[in-house]
Amino acid sequence: MHKITNISTHLYDLHTFSQKSLELADVLNQIVLAAKFVSREVNKAGLTDILGAAGHTNVQDEQVQKLDVYTNEIFIELMRQSPHVKAVGSEEEDKIIIFKGKNKNNAKYIVHLDPLDGSSNIDVNVSVGTNFAIFEKKSKGKGITKEDYLQKGKDVIAAGYVVYGSSTMLVYSSGKGVHGFTLDPSIGEFILSHENIMIPKESTIYSINESYEPKWKDDFTAHIKKMKTNDDISGKAKTARYIGSLVADFHRNLLKGGIYLYPADKKSPNGKLRLLYEGIPFAFLAKHAGGYASNGQMDVLEIEPTELHQRIPLFVGNTKDVKAIEKLLKI
Ligand code: AHG
Ligand code: MN
Ligand code: MN
Repeated sequence: MHKITNISTHLYDLHTFSQKSLELADVLNQIVLAAKFVSREVNKAGLTDILGAAGHTNVQDEQVQKLDVYTNEIFIELMRQSPHVKAVGSEEEDKIIIFKGKNKNNAKYIVHLDPLDGSSNIDVNVSVGTNFAIFEKKSKGKGITKEDYLQKGKDVIAAGYVVYGSSTMLVYSSGKGVHGFTLDPSIGEFILSHENIMIPKESTIYSINESYEPKWKDDFTAHIKKMKTNDDISGKAKTARYIGSLVADFHRNLLKGGIYLYPADKKSPNGKLRLLYEGIPFAFLAKHAGGYASNGQMDVLEIEPTELHQRIPLFVGNTKDVKAIEKLLKI
């Protein structure tokens, strides 16, 4: 029988070299537990009353789905229960949530989350996910400062996502390779299924919402048009795939090779996706899988965040494809 490794064993195998590293493994384990709860809810979504709009909007004026509320609550609660998490930034929360109390005196991690990515797909049984990035507190003392929760992506300690798809998969990196685990719901365990993921050299897919084409600049439109022909930089025409859940689009391109694009346009001059919990997690994973992410001007991991819910244009995937976009857009 081949070796079976569950995620806890894998985490502790990778993180037993120091106390600090073990604490990070504890935080990741809490994320794993939250993901199991969410996976259970997503899988029974059609059977229960959990589908449909919750009837109010979030801080960014978007319709909140019931599952958005559930995922936000369970992730925040499990982060609160970890003695190592000091603060959480969530797409669904206006401000950074800072945990207080004695058990948090030595907490050093800040977790940025998109609890439910792709929420427009919930009602139609299409893949959704959770994205996260973990940072270490920089300031001394018990409090939290802006420099703690607005750190550059290059300072990420660990990042990853869970995709609730035909199977539930968790993919993460703490800088030692990108590893994927598939949930076996019958035993409630994430089992290592994709060790040391590297983005394939051959890039065959482009993923963009082409309905926005009328809002693009001409040279950008021309570049996308070229991707559909053998004039693409790969020498071969690409094929299109767009789910509308960044997490699922990224996941597919990570395994198959390709580029995901969400540019700035006339409607969204700063792009749509959020730097801290959409840009950075995927940029970090792409980098450790041999790919690259850019906002069209620079490496996403080098962008200095100025606010919690900051938006960026995002191009992520095979390095060559992303560099070509950067060359095109760089001012
Ligand atoms: P969220 O559900 O967290 O608000 O994120 C939605 C994002 C992202 O997942 C997806 O790729 C993108 O919005 C889709 O946007 P368009 O509908 O504009 O293509
Ligand atoms: Mn999202
Ligand atoms: Mn979301």
